[in-house]
Amino acid sequence: MDAMTSPPTTALAGAVLGIETSCDETAAAILAPDGTVLAERLLSQQDHLPYQGVVPEIAARAHLAHLPRIVAETLADAGLHPADLGTVAATTGPGLIGGLLVGANYAKGLALAAGKPFIAVNHLAAHALLARLPALGLGVEFPFLLLLASGGHALLAIVEAPHRHTLLGQTIDDAAGECFDKAARVLGLGFPGGPALEALAASGTPGCVSLPRPMLGRPGCDFSFSGLKTAVAVLASREPPGPIAAARAADIAAEFQAAMAAVLADRAVHAMRAFAERLGRPGTLVVAGGVAANGAIRAALQQAAATQRFALAAPPSKLCTDNAVMVAWAAIEMFSAGHAPDGMDAPSRPRWPLESLPA
Ligand code: KG4
Ligand code: ZN
Repeated sequence: MDAMTSPPTTALAGAVLGIETSCDETAAAILAPDGTVLAERLLSQQDHLPYQGVVPEIAARAHLAHLPRIVAETLADAGLHPADLGTVAATTGPGLIGGLLVGANYAKGLALAAGKPFIAVNHLAAHALLARLPALGLGVEFPFLLLLASGGHALLAIVEAPHRHTLLGQTIDDAAGECFDKAARVLGLGFPGGPALEALAASGTPGCVSLPRPMLGRPGCDFSFSGLKTAVAVLASREPPGPIAAARAADIAAEFQAAMAAVLADRAVHAMRAFAERLGRPGTLVVAGGVAANGAIRAALQQAAATQRFALAAPPSKLCTDNAVMVAWAAIEMFSAGHAPDGMDAPSRPRWPLESLPA
């Protein structure tokens, strides 16, 4: 049906509603066409706490329960009705399929009912593009170097345009955030583990215990985190039975964080060299994803960037973790780059690598 496959193309005639439901945050944001954030709501689901990890089925049900209210509140905050919007955008992958289906179908329904175009946003591209949000004032231009370290990914890529990426390296096993979460778990911290581990590490000393730095100094830009994850589990298992003493846990957390920071910085240096070789000049290293919220990691990357004469662009920590501002902004970037709106048949995809995006 024409109305369903060929939505109107007046996309940026009005504000953009973005919806994010790919993991355990239920989020909506409304941005003006110039990227000004008009309203933003985010609910971090608490339903997973007893399970020490995100349970996909629970996440999908929680998105279903909360998304209509979150969207209604976001619209009310912006003083808008669906009819006032220019475009409706939603993350359609990669992520947990149940949540993706909830968000994408809600967005499609809203777009169809209000006669607005729908835009299917890649979550990884959205993390990457956020650094270009004008309000952040980071001045990031294409092409830039991206380090994405999140709960599901660890990768380095050159971002040439909203949908044009050259992958330089990625994890050969676990994601960076996944490794933080597992380390936090063996230290008896809550979920998600990254922020709790960072807080604990502040009172510990790196080097009191010893953890490996996988891939450090190896050629290329790939990551590996499974050895570090196992090493921290082995270290914790050698402690006397019962909860690990607080001071000891803090030292392990500090060493773990230092190992993570060292590895991410080392791999980023290799990528900066590759970038400079290809472009004949240094550029900007953009960090994105939940792990980029970590202060010690940001500091290590800042130092690494300086050695390569790169600028570091790190969005505020609260925008490194999942949010809907990045989804709405990605849609704006896609339109500026000439992308047509998506049809109502746009699929939700558990896997959707950056390199496979249509240019
Ligand atoms: O980008 P994100 O919110 O969701 C995904 O797209 O995966 O990343 C979530 C991940 C979790 O593994 C979480 O523990 C980690 O980012 N994280 C952190 C910090 N804040 C969140 N890791 C280290 N330090 C933090 N402060
Ligand atoms: Zn994410």
